[in-house]
Amino acid sequence: QNMTTVSITVVGASGDLAKKKIFPALFALYYEDFLPEHFTVFGYARSELTNEELRNMISKTLTCRIDKRENCSDKMEQFLQRCFYCSGQYDLEEDFKKLDEKLKQKETGRFPNRLFYLSIPSNIFVDVVRCASHCASSPIGWTRVIVEKPFGRDSESSRELTASLKQYLAEDQIFRIDHYLGKELVENLSVLRFSNLVFEPLWSRQYIRNVQLIFSEDFGTEGRGGYFDSYGIIRDIMQNHLLQILALFAMETPVSLDAEDIRNEKVKVLRSMRALEVDDVVIGQYKGHSKGGKSYPSYTDDPTVPSNSITPTFAAAAMFIDNARWDGVPFLVKAGKALHYKGAEIRVQFRHVPGNLYRRNFGTDLDKNTNELVIRVQPNEAIYLKINNKVPGLGMRLDRSNLNLLYAAKYQSEIPDAYERLLLDAIAGERRLFIRSDELDAAWALFTPLLRELEEKHIAPELYPYGSRGPVGAHYLAAKHNVRKYTKAKNTLILQK
Ligand code: BG6
Repeated sequence: QNMTTVSITVVGASGDLAKKKIFPALFALYYEDFLPEHFTVFGYARSELTNEELRNMISKTLTCRIDKRENCSDKMEQFLQRCFYCSGQYDLEEDFKKLDEKLKQKETGRFPNRLFYLSIPSNIFVDVVRCASHCASSPIGWTRVIVEKPFGRDSESSRELTASLKQYLAEDQIFRIDHYLGKELVENLSVLRFSNLVFEPLWSRQYIRNVQLIFSEDFGTEGRGGYFDSYGIIRDIMQNHLLQILALFAMETPVSLDAEDIRNEKVKVLRSMRALEVDDVVIGQYKGHSKGGKSYPSYTDDPTVPSNSITPTFAAAAMFIDNARWDGVPFLVKAGKALHYKGAEIRVQFRHVPGNLYRRNFGTDLDKNTNELVIRVQPNEAIYLKINNKVPGLGMRLDRSNLNLLYAAKYQSEIPDAYERLLLDAIAGERRLFIRSDELDAAWALFTPLLRELEEKHIAPELYPYGSRGPVGAHYLAAKHNVRKYTKAKNTLILQK
């Protein structure tokens, strides 16, 4: 173990993702002693920077967790001393040879493993992979490459990308990141389901009425319009982040916790799903407005977005899994930018209690007071279950209460960023949280016909005001599938004696 070293090269080192997520995650791992004893971090990009300039740039982005402030600046300094820079073009093999030389200098006397993180636009993935695999892969150890979406824009382009990458890499060298899989509560989904008795027996069409998977941001595409406009919310969030959560939520019990066993089950869910049709979907785009003396931009106010763009910034879709467990259960998947709140959550609405003794107090609407399980992925991570409960006292009053596991109250330590777990797993060769190519293919198959139809028919999104609850059409879609908005706990019921 002591003889090995890992060289981590961040390609696209001066980009946003590298600065905001990758370097800080590497430092957090270092701080917590999770990185191997011997490692170096290389930044690779086109601009000419010295090691010092790179360190300077990185140092601005590093932070220590609130509960771990001790020795923070010493640790930062030690970490920065392990960071180096190499400038080069993304498509020139000579430049990657230069990188190889630099890597070798740091690796002398040790068994080298190499990890490349491609934090670059996808149109240069293949060039970088070609150059890196020809000129800078580890001569004797492993070489792994982490890639970030977009993995194509539909089934065809995604397959092409996979085929091109596979000219230079084997499938087990490719680590396709979906950072939602690295989020604490998403990882916890399997623990919740498979290590508690009380959930799994209810986890089917027999007891679950519908499931909602919601992603909501309270800001627009500010600054990222150029990327976003050719992509849209369905490709940006639904086809990957929300669909991955759905697959984990709905999969059968895997044979084991091994990556292949888990991914086999996820793929089965995706392949049992119906491809989306235009009628199953509501799309929206935010428009500007003023409120309280403040004005909010519309999506097309972004200078990098064409003024006649019909790219959706919101989408809601009813998805179905046609298998024995989930037949007929709507999965309402919803993602939007510039909405009224920031958050991601899973909401599971259960059926009503058959022959409920207290039913006359629920009026005719039996679905109104059914149980709901909420898994709040972020922020304020929590898992809570809405139940009907007797209000203590001599009378008989019921109200809706929460059995509530609020992470901030229960666990004092800060939750690691998703990128920390994913980087750690890639270094360890653990593939459980990365997307296999057949999963990717199955995911695109569900969205490609819809995306094509939206584009061919120029279907215009419904406009919704920045900061609102999204297009009205989404509420009709929810109502059509009997998805309820529950009233809060103050909806107290008085029972007659
Ligand atoms: C990215 C999307 O994958 O996820 C962004 O491209 C989005 O549009 C981001 O803002 C959200 O991630 P997080 O971790 O901040 O919820």
